[in-house]
Amino acid sequence: MKEQLENIKVHAVQDLENACSMQELENIRIKYMGKKGELTSVLRGMGALSAEERPIIGQLANEIRSFIEEKIESSKQVILSKEKQEKLQKEVIDITMPGKKHELGKKHPLSIVLDEIKDIFIGMGFEIAEGPEVELDYYNFEALNIPKNHPARDTQDTFYINDNIVLRTQTSPVQIRSMENSKPPIRIISPGRVYRSDAVDATHSPVFHQVEGLVIDKNVTMGDLKGTLEVFAKRLYGDDTKVRFRPHHFPFTEPSAEMDVSCFVCGGSGCRVCKGEGWIEILGSGMVHPKVLKNCGIDPEEYSGFAFGMGLERIVMKRFGIDDLRLFFENDMRFLKQF
Ligand code: DAH
Repeated sequence: MKEQLENIKVHAVQDLENACSMQELENIRIKYMGKKGELTSVLRGMGALSAEERPIIGQLANEIRSFIEEKIESSKQVILSKEKQEKLQKEVIDITMPGKKHELGKKHPLSIVLDEIKDIFIGMGFEIAEGPEVELDYYNFEALNIPKNHPARDTQDTFYINDNIVLRTQTSPVQIRSMENSKPPIRIISPGRVYRSDAVDATHSPVFHQVEGLVIDKNVTMGDLKGTLEVFAKRLYGDDTKVRFRPHHFPFTEPSAEMDVSCFVCGGSGCRVCKGEGWIEILGSGMVHPKVLKNCGIDPEEYSGFAFGMGLERIVMKRFGIDDLRLFFENDMRFLKQF
């Protein structure tokens, strides 16, 4: 039996020398010291030994068990540190590799022109106001004197969230919110996204941008409207620019007018940009309707005001000679880099 034990020791040492993973170590432990292990079965057989032999063999068996346990433990340390070393080597980062370059962006043409428009109005004492894009039907239509069944609703194909909530079809609801939230004098412009259920083509998109304007004070007249918008046109297109107002109709203004500017390409003689007209339409405007003032708790006998609204995309397209509105929303750097 002594010989058997010595053999076990020799074999265990050999096995351990060849082991190179934690799994192999565990297999060795089971092979010798598991429930059915070689050493375990020797210990089980000790009952058959004589009284003199038993303590001697018992002591030897215990020594060998501790010996194997220690060997396993030290092999474990060796394997762990080897594995760690391999992992570190595999995960080495080559800090001399060139980095991935991010392409630098450019200011979007819509932002370029919008910033100019903002600067012009801020220079005239206006503030920038904002309103929600998901808007109550009341603010988008009702309070602006566009009741349900009004034909103006048909021309602005609306995305309805439910009966009372829409995606705003215009920036005009910000007028109402401004008048509700502050007392006159009010001088604001409100740029932002608007939505209409239009099919996409070269001149239509379900999302586009408008800039709204509103002035409310005592004794504001149509003369103030014309003077303010003429200054705006000259600042945006140059001092030679002429403006003309054509009568129009909007439910929230009375009287209402559309404003054209003399073509900034041909100066009025007619060209491709103005389609031979000499004039380019850039905005709608008018004196705020007394009903709209009343809806906002402002007394039309005491106060008056004017409002205007323009579509940003159209203005930017004319400005840069862009013939397809879809280019604004495609984020193609080859397009954006040109401005
Ligand atoms: N909201 C109008 C539209 O989307 C534009 C507009 C016209 C706004 C006249 C105004 C205005 O404030 O006075 O067609």
